[in-house]
Amino acid sequence: MKKITSILFFIVFSTTTLSSLYAASVGVNQDVAGLDTTPTIDRPFAPSLLRTKNHHKATLDSFENPEVCAGCHPKQYEGWRGSMHSNAWNDPIFLAEFKKGLKATDGKIFKYCAGCHSPIGVLTGTASWDKETNTFDISEKAARGVTCDVCHSIAGAVPLEDTLTSEHGNGSHIIDTETHIKYGPLKNSVSPYHETQYSELHTKANLCASCHNIIHPVNGTPVERTYDEWRVSPYAQNEIVCQDCHMNSVEVAIQIAKTLKRPETFANKHVRLSGKASTLGTQDRAIVHSHEFVGGNAIISSIMAPKSLRKRKHADIAKKRLQNAAELTVHFEQRGDELFKLGVDVYNVGAGHNLPTSLTQVRHIWIEATVTDNQGNILFETGKLDNHHDLDEDKTVVFKSWTVDEKGEETHDPWAINHIVRDTTIPPKGHSKHEFIFANKNNVKQISVDVKLNYRSATQHFTDSLLGPDAPTIPTITMEHTSNTYVQKGNGWSKLMKSFSTLEEEIENN
Ligand code: HEC
Ligand code: HEC
Ligand code: HEC
Ligand code: HEC
Ligand code: HEC
Repeated sequence: MKKITSILFFIVFSTTTLSSLYAASVGVNQDVAGLDTTPTIDRPFAPSLLRTKNHHKATLDSFENPEVCAGCHPKQYEGWRGSMHSNAWNDPIFLAEFKKGLKATDGKIFKYCAGCHSPIGVLTGTASWDKETNTFDISEKAARGVTCDVCHSIAGAVPLEDTLTSEHGNGSHIIDTETHIKYGPLKNSVSPYHETQYSELHTKANLCASCHNIIHPVNGTPVERTYDEWRVSPYAQNEIVCQDCHMNSVEVAIQIAKTLKRPETFANKHVRLSGKASTLGTQDRAIVHSHEFVGGNAIISSIMAPKSLRKRKHADIAKKRLQNAAELTVHFEQRGDELFKLGVDVYNVGAGHNLPTSLTQVRHIWIEATVTDNQGNILFETGKLDNHHDLDEDKTVVFKSWTVDEKGEETHDPWAINHIVRDTTIPPKGHSKHEFIFANKNNVKQISVDVKLNYRSATQHFTDSLLGPDAPTIPTITMEHTSNTYVQKGNGWSKLMKSFSTLEEEIENN
């Protein structure tokens, strides 16, 4: 046998099946200086695209606190409370990054960011930032984030004309502040408390697009494009919208992803979706929607209230969603040259958008693998966090995007992003194939392979730089995990059958 002492590591083949829709946009200079904050008829809250219906003025009386709705809509309220929508303003990571951006732009991005994180604050003018003290002043109502009345006062959306897709984004919705009409998905609904109006928009992904598509207001770079990713997916083709997965239980969302069928199809005596939309409702509705809106964020809700069971519940649902979003397949073989090949394919089976999505310059998913021989010697490893909880990105297969500023230097800051230099996120129903090569240095006859797919909302470095010494440790969530032992038999290698007790243990751990 050839004497190979060092462990070889290289990625032979690394592709993503569907190519990214976006080419990096050509940089326009003065990204930040060019930010136009002058109000116009079309952009009264520039640079945010938020506007009110008929240009009616908004006051704090235009909006009510969620607790008012809770009396008659307890189910919707219980879901919303503790959700990332309810934390959209108070989220400490958002606030720290926002302050950094305000300093960098001399306050010019205030309405832009707050237009999505506290629409009430922007519309009513009750949220502001003091440059001298670097503190915020915000009304109690506005600090509640994306509230019931924010979404249920949306009377329309304005497609963007100056973007690649002419879709929605940057807060491009029209909020009715003239009336107290609640816009929603129900036909013929009657409430003793408020007027109601059927709104088709609330049943469509466009409602979410206005906030879940972020386009740099000066250079046009798609900073977050969850909606645009969905729009070109098999889900969109099958009329499966964001609401179907994010406003139903994880179990229903998994079925939707598997079958590409709408949620109504799964309603039976075990899966009950129907019920009363309000405790005062007179008729059963086909679906009463969960308002938890859980994505992958398992950290913010739990650090904001570590002792609250409800908030821990949001973190648990986030884990469950992540653990059903992807699948892994592992191939193991000895090559002609005595070296070994470990193939790992990652499939996005459950997310209606890329994996990961949204702030992909920060959110990341990676392959962790450990190959050991039967004496416990490590033959190969990748994707281990170091003592500072950091990853060596050059030696790891990471699914994320890399963004740079005007000068071409890497940045995570949304206001500074000028273009995307690389994007390894996996499209909906797409997959990504990777190979790792290593040597059987002790020439053993039994090799164990352990492969994990991990997710983190942010790197420890990023979080520490924003929150300082009080920063929490960002948890690693294992999305998938497989382990197998291979034994040499004659000329080939075959998988060792797992004992019944090992299988039982694995099922229990999942
Ligand atoms: C992020 C936006 C958003 C927020 C915040 C929100 N909703 Fe909804 N709500 C929706 C959407 C979208 C639907 C319709 C989903 C569909 O039909 O596909 C809906 C449906 C409803 C319905 C109709 C019955 C049902 O459950 O389908 C009621 C009632 C309702 N919401 C009340 C509330 C209350 C009360 C709150 C606050 C505690 C709230 N909503 C917060 C977006 C929101
Ligand atoms: C078009 C609406 C929109 C605008 C404009 C916007 N955001 Fe956000 N922001 C979002 C959404 C939606 C998310 C959640 C994405 C997710 O969690 O996957 C988010 C998440 C974040 C997060 C991550 C929070 C966490 O806990 O991980 C930070 C930080 C943030 N935004 C900062 C900003 C700053 C600073 C600005 C202004 C430069 C800004 N945002 C502008 C919609 C917006
Ligand atoms: C006194 C009870 C009561 C209060 C308080 C109340 N609602 Fe309702 N709401 C109802 C009833 C009843 C319905 C009709 C349900 C049905 O037809 O199935 C309804 C329907 C709705 C709908 C569906 C409208 C449609 O056409 O799809 C939305 C959205 C809604 N309410 C939001 C809110 C919000 C937001 C608040 C708080 C600002 C609130 N409600 C406060 C009783 C109430
Ligand atoms: C008014 C703006 C707005 C609208 C409309 C809106 N969102 Fe959000 N959404 C946000 C913001 C802001 C956050 C993140 C807050 C943060 O991370 O600090 C968020 C967070 C989320 C998350 C949690 C992400 C995570 O990291 O776990 C999900 C899921 C989500 N939204 C889905 C939806 C869906 C589905 C719709 C449409 C029915 C929708 N949103 C409509 C602003 C909005
Ligand atoms: C087929 C089901 C499905 C559909 C459709 C879907 N999602 Fe998701 N979404 C998921 C799953 C699973 C995750 C968790 C994995 C992840 O983070 O990407 C997720 C995560 C998210 C997150 C959090 C991402 C993060 O890591 O912070 C946001 C925000 C979100 N979705 C918004 C949306 C919006 C907006 C739409 C519609 C344009 C949508 N989703 C459509 C299944 C779905």
